[in-house]
Amino acid sequence: MPSFILETERLLLRPPESGDANALVRHMEWDVAKNLSRPPFPYLEEHALAFLARQEEGRAKGSDYAFAITDKSGSAFLGVCGVHLREKGFELGYWLARPHWGKGYATEAAGEVLGFAFRNLRAEEVEAGWYHDNPASGRVLQKLGFRPNGADRRDCAARGHAVLCNLVLMSRAEYVQRQAA
Ligand SMILES: CC(C)(COP(=O)(O)OP(=O)(O)OC[C@H]1O[C@@H](n2cnc3c(N)ncnc32)[C@H](O)[C@@H]1OP(=O)(O)O)[C@@H](O)C(=O)NCCC(=O)NCCS
Repeated sequence: MPSFILETERLLLRPPESGDANALVRHMEWDVAKNLSRPPFPYLEEHALAFLARQEEGRAKGSDYAFAITDKSGSAFLGVCGVHLREKGFELGYWLARPHWGKGYATEAAGEVLGFAFRNLRAEEVEAGWYHDNPASGRVLQKLGFRPNGADRRDCAARGHAVLCNLVLMSRAEYVQRQAA
């Protein structure tokens, strides 16, 4: 059974819980939602509750592992990072509440969840994607060591249409090699 509490130097990552609903709603601003595929906008309490229910169900099935990102004490909600099962491997996703951008938290949290996917979930590969107009996320994925893997139009619920998305990939072998370097 994989561990559901992860720790990094500055962050604690734990399964999202019902008490996070208010923070999810408060921080799912347009500048966050427009860069994600699934959250609609405006993002209401019912959307947060549906997300929390989906995550619980997905964890039980072994298909979704989302983590609330908090400070080390667990008191401040900073964002969400997780992986969910796709056809060939897991897909990585993340978002930070706007006041917490630019501090390296996304890279720190996503790096830990990436390790969780390869170590604990035995993923063969992890993919991710960033919309063409979201270079900060492209930079996060580059810093983590992902390699470009084409581009495709991907639905964005908040914008209400598909958006050109740069796809990136990391194989287990690439992850292991990077860890050894
Ligand atoms: C994208 C996002 C996750 C980045 O979070 P963060 O904690 O600020 O990211 P980090 O600090 O770890 O790294 C951001 C990197 O992008 C760089 N960056 C920021 N804005 C940039 C821009 N406009 N163009 C290019 N690079 C940019 C930063 O300089 C930093 O790189 P550096 O360490 O080399 O200086 C955050 O802005 C967010 O939640 N956005 C909305 C949701 C989202 O985009 N999620 C990802 C979906 S794929």
